[in-house]
Amino acid sequence: MRKPISLRWRLLVPLIITAIITSALLYFTMRQVTKQAVQATQEALLEKAVTSILEQTRFTENNVEIDLPYNIFTMLGAISEDKVYYRVDLDGLFLTGYEDLRLKNLTVDNEYIFFSSTIFRGVKLRQATVQQLFLVNGKSRLIQITVAQTQLFQEAILRDMSRNAGVIGISFFGFALLVALLATRSFLRPINSLAGTVSRRGAHDLRPVKGPTPPELMPLVLSLNGFISRLTGTLRQTETFIAEAAHHIRTPLSLVKSESQLALRKSKSSENRKHLHNIIESVDMSIRSAGQLLDHALVLYRSEKIDEKRLDLAVVVQHVADNLQPAADLKDIIIKTEIINNGDIFVMADRVLLEVALRNMLDNAIKYSNPDQLIFVKMVLDQNFVRIIVLDNGRGIKGVKTKGIHKRFKRGSNVDDVIGSGLGLAIISEICIILGGSFILKNNKGVGACAILQLPVC
Ligand SMILES: Nc1ncnc2c1ncn2[C@@H]1O[C@H](COP(=O)(O)OP(=O)(O)O)[C@@H](O)[C@H]1O
Ligand SMILES: [Mg+2]
Repeated sequence: MRKPISLRWRLLVPLIITAIITSALLYFTMRQVTKQAVQATQEALLEKAVTSILEQTRFTENNVEIDLPYNIFTMLGAISEDKVYYRVDLDGLFLTGYEDLRLKNLTVDNEYIFFSSTIFRGVKLRQATVQQLFLVNGKSRLIQITVAQTQLFQEAILRDMSRNAGVIGISFFGFALLVALLATRSFLRPINSLAGTVSRRGAHDLRPVKGPTPPELMPLVLSLNGFISRLTGTLRQTETFIAEAAHHIRTPLSLVKSESQLALRKSKSSENRKHLHNIIESVDMSIRSAGQLLDHALVLYRSEKIDEKRLDLAVVVQHVADNLQPAADLKDIIIKTEIINNGDIFVMADRVLLEVALRNMLDNAIKYSNPDQLIFVKMVLDQNFVRIIVLDNGRGIKGVKTKGIHKRFKRGSNVDDVIGSGLGLAIISEICIILGGSFILKNNKGVGACAILQLPVC
């Protein structure tokens, strides 16, 4: 396929061609005008010379007397190194001057000044010829006077002029090129700024493109926004589907779990109890997975229309800890929250997303702790950031990367005995991107793990 021509070149090439043509036209026009002006001046002088000679021409009975006006000749010769030649003819016969100066054949009734160019002794000349009929003793006599001049001066002026016109033409071309470059740049600026606005967006930012746009780019922006809205619609449908699917799975599963627990309580046979335990464990795993799928769908959905508010972090942390305490109670685990700074730490965040992140951090801490252990939730203020630290005394991390974005469904190598879906850390990572924070997971110096969520304070 042919490579598409860039917009810059599409604009620059015609502008450069126009600049070249204009510069060339300017050059030739200046040259032509000067040539014509110099020639007109020379012709005026030649005309003056021939008419002066004609005025000084007198006929006596048999003779003709001609006075050559030397002052005019001196004037003509004074210009540059130019040479002047003349020739006088009477009744078509050479009378005086330079005989080899070629004369134009004029018809008798021509009584005007005639200009022509000729080559004389290998040099180009411009010549003026005047002729007039005189009536002498009842006989008409024709006198023809020609004055010619070399064109050295004209050529010198033209040479000078060409040089100047060349400089002007090139300067004009340079200027036009600069203007063309600036014009191209300014033409492309809105396109680049539009591209910049779109590319600077986060992965989840599906808001329509807004801001001042030139009318010519409006169709592009409109179709881009149309595409974004179609994509948003499709995403929403998918998320709704996931949310509904998770909900529809969770409800009957909860029923299966409670029925199995009931059956377990009533069952006497150890064989059956073992089977029921297995069922409850699997159902638990499914409920957790469904819950996390729901969380994930919620995070994706929220990322499109974040509802940011100034939140009192201590309140949110305490709320999440209280919510998870019943789950911790099942393992006799106590969640201890340490509120510093009198609880005066505020963050700008979407409360739902922040709670989901904290819930997943605490959920892991509970899951991977042993019964009767303690979990600490601390907040540390560090300049413009706050670190929410969840510390446990559990088995610690193995086989999971500690920094960066966590992939979905990636579980540790030491957690085969614990049910889980491997979605928790991926959810936290996504929330971090949306809230402009960061997340680190590491092992404690002694035992257990430490999960740190860092957020900007406001
Ligand atoms: N507090 C923790 N203690 C030990 N391991 C942890 C802790 N938090 C996370 N992990 C490790 O990270 C993995 C991924 O966590 P997560 O994405 O929440 O999935 P899940 O908890 O469902 O396995 C876990 O499988 C586990 O190996
Ligand atoms: Mg988890």
